Amino acid sequence: MNQSRQNTPKPHVTNASEKEPIVVFTGAGVSAESGLLTFRDMGGLWRQYDVTQVASPTAWRNNPELVLQFYNERREKVIQASPNAAHHAIASLEAKYDVTVITQNVDDLHERAGSSKVLHLHGEIRKVRSSLDSNLIYEWPEAHLDLGQLCEKGSQLRPHIVWFGEQVFALQEAAQLFGTAQKVLVVGTSLVVQPAASLLDYAPFEAEKILINPEPQQSSLNNYSYMQGTACQMLPILTNQWLSA
Ligand code: APR
Repeated sequence: MNQSRQNTPKPHVTNASEKEPIVVFTGAGVSAESGLLTFRDMGGLWRQYDVTQVASPTAWRNNPELVLQFYNERREKVIQASPNAAHHAIASLEAKYDVTVITQNVDDLHERAGSSKVLHLHGEIRKVRSSLDSNLIYEWPEAHLDLGQLCEKGSQLRPHIVWFGEQVFALQEAAQLFGTAQKVLVVGTSLVVQPAASLLDYAPFEAEKILINPEPQQSSLNNYSYMQGTACQMLPILTNQWLSA
């Protein structure tokens, strides 16, 4: 009697295309517990510096040394900093989800924690670019960038940062990612800077949407659930729930 072969069930391997797409939207607060200053908290960067003097095209034209010094000081601190439990928790979600981190931060802590898809809306402090040709972008492992360090076309190198009044990067791609996400997690941002903050509106109504911040909830965000706490307190809890769901 011929035995009908039982098809041995193949182990189900979720490849990237089968993984549920999720978006994690972060701001300076996600790096606060790594020792990096935020912008608008007490002691934050915009409480110490006049943004028009250090982070605008006019500042660059009028006083490039001061601008370079501002970013050299921040780059030093990013190099000294390490990813925290929140960065690692976000990276751990890639085991089960197709994760894109969309960040307003210019540090590389998400990448150093293992996140493989990171969209930097406001630039990257570990890169510099030609002040003549914005397509000439260079990795910059050094802590400092100084006057006289030139691009291959001979123009001064500048921080690869989006200054106030400049075009934000990858906005359309970010909106599309929000629009197809089945979960959206927002952590560590005051949501006061546009157009980045308006990305939250692109999340589908039916997506699970969570916002984490240590401050008491300011305003009711259209159907985002609010979890009060710091990134390092809340992210390990939430990512464990999502990974074991
Ligand atoms: N965990 C989570 N959130 C935190 C923590 C923490 N440990 N510490 C502070 N926060 C929250 C603060 O409550 C605040 O809501 O992080 C947020 C930081 O807000 P901002 O300083 O305004 O930083 P961000 O929202 O990233 O700013 C957006 O503004 O100046 C521009 O280009 C700059 O990308 C920046 C943009």
